[in-house]
Amino acid sequence: MQTDRPPLVLSVDAQHPDASIIARAAAILDQGGLVAFPTETVYGLGAHALNANAVARIFEAKGRPAWNPVIAHVASAAHARELVTDWPAAAEKLSNEFWPGPLTLVLPKRWNVPGIATAGLQAVGIRVPSHPVALALINALNGPIAAPSANRFTELSPTTAAHVAAGLGNRVEMILDGGSCSVGIESTVVDLTGVTPTILRPGTIGRDALIAALGGDVMEAARETETGNTPRLSPGRTERHYAPRAEVWLFDAVDAGSFANAAADFGSRNLHTKVATLVLDWSLALPPNVRAVRMPTDPLAYARTLYATLHELDAADFGVIAIERPPRTSAWAGVHDRLNRAAHS
Ligand code: TXA
Ligand code: MG
Repeated sequence: MQTDRPPLVLSVDAQHPDASIIARAAAILDQGGLVAFPTETVYGLGAHALNANAVARIFEAKGRPAWNPVIAHVASAAHARELVTDWPAAAEKLSNEFWPGPLTLVLPKRWNVPGIATAGLQAVGIRVPSHPVALALINALNGPIAAPSANRFTELSPTTAAHVAAGLGNRVEMILDGGSCSVGIESTVVDLTGVTPTILRPGTIGRDALIAALGGDVMEAARETETGNTPRLSPGRTERHYAPRAEVWLFDAVDAGSFANAAADFGSRNLHTKVATLVLDWSLALPPNVRAVRMPTDPLAYARTLYATLHELDAADFGVIAIERPPRTSAWAGVHDRLNRAAHS
C-alpha cells in the first residue's frame, strides 16, 4: 500500500525503548497498519499476525509474491505454542537454547494463524527475537507480529532505519529507529515438521550448534540443504534474493589474479561503471580504479556489516561489486548463502 505521507520515523533507545513510543507503534499494528522495527538480525516489516488483512498489506508493500510465507514473532516459547498444533522435543531443545535469538522454527500451524501468513502452507515459521524494541512491541500489542525483512521483494534486507525508509518509502506508516542490527543477516530457519530437523535457510546459528543443542545425531538432512539450495518447504523461492542493484561477482582469493585482469578488462570497456571489491585478504593485488573494502575475517563480524556495506555501495552507484569468497567452513554458511543469492542473476 502506498500512503500519501512519508513514514513517521521515531528514534527509540535500543536497550530501553520509551514505552509511549512503543504504545503508539502497537496502536498502529492493532488497527491493521504496518510498522517497521529493529530486530537483532535485520529490520522487520510488521503487521498483526492474526489479522489477515493486515498481513495482506505486508505482501502489497513488499511486492512479495503470495507463495512466500512470513515469520511470526512472539515474546516467548509459551506464546509460540499457542500458534502450533505440535511442539516436538526438538522445538523444546532448540527454543531453550536459542530463544530469544536469530532462530526461526517451522512447525505445524494452528487454525488461528491465517493462511495468508503461511502462504497456504500448513506450517508456520516462528521466532522470539532478542531485540528489546521488538520484544517491547510484541508485548505492547499483546499478540504475534508477522514480519518479513523490511525491504522490497528480492532487494537487500535493511539493517538500519535509513535503509527501510529508502527501500519502502511511503509504503509503511511508522519506522522505529533503534540503530544498527547486531547480527546483520536473517535468522537461521529450521523445519521441524518432518522426521529430521532440516535447515531451510542458514544463518549465524550454524549446523554444529543446532546439532549440539539437539543432542547429537538428528540433523542429517541439513547437510544437503545448508549449502543454500532451494529449501523443501519454502515453495518456489527465487534464487536471486538479498541482492544489491549492482551486479555481484564472486571470486576466490587464489583466482585474484584472473579477477584483477577481468576487472581491468571490464573497466576498459565500461568506463562509466564503478567497480568495488570486498576483500578479506588485504594483500591481494587489485587493479587500479577498483574501490577496495576490507571485510572482517570473523564470520559474525562479516555478517554484521555485509548488508550495510552493500547498501552503501549501491547508494554510491557502484555498478559491479566483486566479492572475495570467505573460507568454505560451516561457520561461514550463512554468509555464503547470502553471497550466492546476491550473485545469482
Ligand atoms: O531474521 C529474520 O528472520 C527476519 C527478521 C525480521 O525476523 N525476517 C525474515 O523474514 O528474514 P523473511 O520473510 O524475509 O524470510 C522468511 C524466510 C523465508 O525464506 C521463508 O520462505 C521462510 O522463512 N519461511 C517462513 N515461514 C515458513 C514456513 N511456514 N515454511 C517454510 N519456510 C518458511
Ligand atoms: Mg527477506
